Amino acid sequence: MAATVQMKVSPEDLSQVPQTGERIPNPGIMVIFGASGDLTKRKLLPALFHLEQVGLLPKNFAIVGVARRPLGDEFAADMREGIVEFGSVDNSDPRLEEFTSKISYYALSFDDPSHYAGLKTELDRIAKDKGIGSDRLFYLATAPEYFASIIENLGTQGMAQPEHGRVGVVIEKPFGHDLDSAKALNRELQAVLSERQIYRIDHYLGKETVQNIMAFRFANGIFEPVWNRRYIDHVQLTVAETLGVEGRGGYYESAGVLRDMIQNHMFQLMSLVAMEPPSSFDATPVRDEKVKVLNAVRPLVPEEILQRTVRGQYDEGFVDGQKLPAYRAEPSVAPASNTETFAAIKLDVDNWRWAGVPFYLRSGKRLAKHVTEIVIEFRRPPLLAFGKIQIGTLEPNRLVLQIQPEEGIKMEIKAKRPGATMQLTSVALDFSYSDFGPTDKATGYERLLYDAMIGDTTLFHRADMVEAAWRIATPILDVWGSIPPRDFPNYAAMSWGPASADDLIHRDGRHWRNP
Ligand code: BG6
Repeated sequence: MAATVQMKVSPEDLSQVPQTGERIPNPGIMVIFGASGDLTKRKLLPALFHLEQVGLLPKNFAIVGVARRPLGDEFAADMREGIVEFGSVDNSDPRLEEFTSKISYYALSFDDPSHYAGLKTELDRIAKDKGIGSDRLFYLATAPEYFASIIENLGTQGMAQPEHGRVGVVIEKPFGHDLDSAKALNRELQAVLSERQIYRIDHYLGKETVQNIMAFRFANGIFEPVWNRRYIDHVQLTVAETLGVEGRGGYYESAGVLRDMIQNHMFQLMSLVAMEPPSSFDATPVRDEKVKVLNAVRPLVPEEILQRTVRGQYDEGFVDGQKLPAYRAEPSVAPASNTETFAAIKLDVDNWRWAGVPFYLRSGKRLAKHVTEIVIEFRRPPLLAFGKIQIGTLEPNRLVLQIQPEEGIKMEIKAKRPGATMQLTSVALDFSYSDFGPTDKATGYERLLYDAMIGDTTLFHRADMVEAAWRIATPILDVWGSIPPRDFPNYAAMSWGPASADDLIHRDGRHWRNP
């Protein structure tokens, strides 16, 4: 087993780190469409309350939940319960009462234009009562088929273009289901809004450890010189879930893991690892560099898709003696479904930094372990002058960016084992995020909501990024669609996926790091 050297962070170290000054957003109203869904109660409201707790919400602020159901004051009471339960907030927190008084509800049919004038009147009334200007953040937590009509109606009622102040619209994935539909959605959004008003949210970009990829790469001078094809052998990205589809079979049947996880979250992770240093950390240069990576990924041609991609679907399995159902036996899933719950892909980034360095991506449901991590595997040293030790027998250096559930950075290096003879062993230089103190209350939406309120689009997908990502994913989906899988289900629940995923990387003389 590898020895571990812990890198501890002391409070003194932290106080040395210059912190950037935080701006308080302007007084405003956040309007959540689809507010009766789970996301609002479990994530959005707890996140907003966490912002309130750390003083990052303006004093004059209102939250208006919008959905079809006729709800009244019970909405605010229900949100308060969500904040306590999912935000780990103490029910006796004195700020809860006042915060809850800022929450109200408005019933509306998303696709009925006649309802929007009433919404505008309601928002104007709240703004007047509470001394709020015209800053509005509309959060579309609805099914995607309503995005276009909500935005069109906001536009028609003059709510999308502020007289003063800022209006932003946050939308949740899926941003289309292939390249053509993504382009159509972008056109519909841009017919009413300017690109800088659009916040295409990706909760992975709200994770501390994902944001840390940029800090790690660009706040440390020692990595840049080795961050390229001369020193890096390959990169692995794993997003493994132990959960199945958890009652979302209906949605998942039309998605599959390539659309659900890889096209969005994983391509974003990949672009953070592979991007060039931006000229500044403003939204435009950062997103320009990220999109360049996606544009440099060589789309696979059909013959390559058969060689470089693997898809899988989970069969039944056991955990602690309990039987878990196969995907095909999940509610709302077709008994002969061909939807993939696992995929592994080998991609190339055609630029000078990465030519010849494969990126292996894999993600799946009901895998052996819940883990998201990025492994940068370095080339072995060219020569080993330690007697009989064969160079090929030594594990290479690996840098592991642990995104979740363990959050940290691990560098696997070689060291001499104590003793009279030269024996090499692996040790890990290990930094854990827990050294910063407990962070477990955050829902991951805090930073993203705050950024949307202050108008910072850096951590959001831009239209061209979405299209570039679909340009990579769509040919794969097309080939998979035209050649149905013959071996589904092909992996047992709670395993590491189909054997063909191991073959994909073994063929290149490499192996997955299964943590
Ligand atoms: C969502 C997917 O975007 O991300 C889900 O739709 C998936 O299927 C989830 O389970 C995973 O997110 P996290 O933060 O739990 O890794």
